[in-house]
Amino acid sequence: MIKIEPTGESLGATISNVDMANLDQSAFDEIHAAWLEHLVLRFRGQTLDDTSLAAFSRRFGKLDNAPIGRGGDYPIPDRPEITIISNIIEDGKAIGGLGNSEAVWHSDMTYVDMPPKASLLYGMEIPNTGGDTWFCNMYRVYEDLPEAMKTRIVGLRCKHDSTRTSSGSLRTGFAEQYSPEEQPGEDHPLIVRHPETSRQALYLGRRRNAYIVGMSAADSDVLLDEIWDHANASPHSWAQKWAVGDLVLWDNRCTMHRRDGFDDAERRLMHRTQVQGDIRPAT
Ligand code: SIN
Repeated sequence: MIKIEPTGESLGATISNVDMANLDQSAFDEIHAAWLEHLVLRFRGQTLDDTSLAAFSRRFGKLDNAPIGRGGDYPIPDRPEITIISNIIEDGKAIGGLGNSEAVWHSDMTYVDMPPKASLLYGMEIPNTGGDTWFCNMYRVYEDLPEAMKTRIVGLRCKHDSTRTSSGSLRTGFAEQYSPEEQPGEDHPLIVRHPETSRQALYLGRRRNAYIVGMSAADSDVLLDEIWDHANASPHSWAQKWAVGDLVLWDNRCTMHRRDGFDDAERRLMHRTQVQGDIRPAT
């Protein structure tokens, strides 16, 4: 019997009694339903190699490949679907992305036309302090908006910036600055309807360089600051405090996440997969 223990916060549940290597369809269906209900699932005490991490991830859909590194290859060449998140340096080179710094609130890759539906992060080396990953329930953030604001943002679309990572670094091939209209990225409705639950959520992506289509840059900033102040102050978040062997799965369509920084003298190593989206976000 699969055990589902909600965190008691606005999202998240710990799942146990799961044999990932031998997951039949009914067990998977239970996990899938729990994921839609709790938005973030944590499986503790897992021993996963990259093949089993990818196999479990693939139950949720087709996987994206990891971004190609500066050396021109995938981080793990024979496992292109595995991304490494780490601050570890080997032979003078970073083995993964994001380093040790704080990562700001964001949903993954909302700057493309069909953003990923899910991401999975597996903890392999964990610092003694710091590096917690926070998740926020964007259904609840939307529901808590003042009614006047809900009405005001109906039909508005936001441009999502593709030039910076969540730790603020400029991605390869982009300029430092663009005008709001020319900012590289995709626009999506500010209010989206989840394709599986039909619930409405606020769809913010990330704050930096975001732009409300059709507004002046100044008016767009005023409106976005007001919405982000509301999201930042929201009580609907929960922190995953990592242990080695934790696998965390989140629904990228109705959550944002951020990461606390940690001491660079400590090592943090996570392997990550990303499940492709199959539909454009829509209201
Ligand atoms: C991410 O934003 O995908 C990584 C989060 C983390 O390192 O905890």
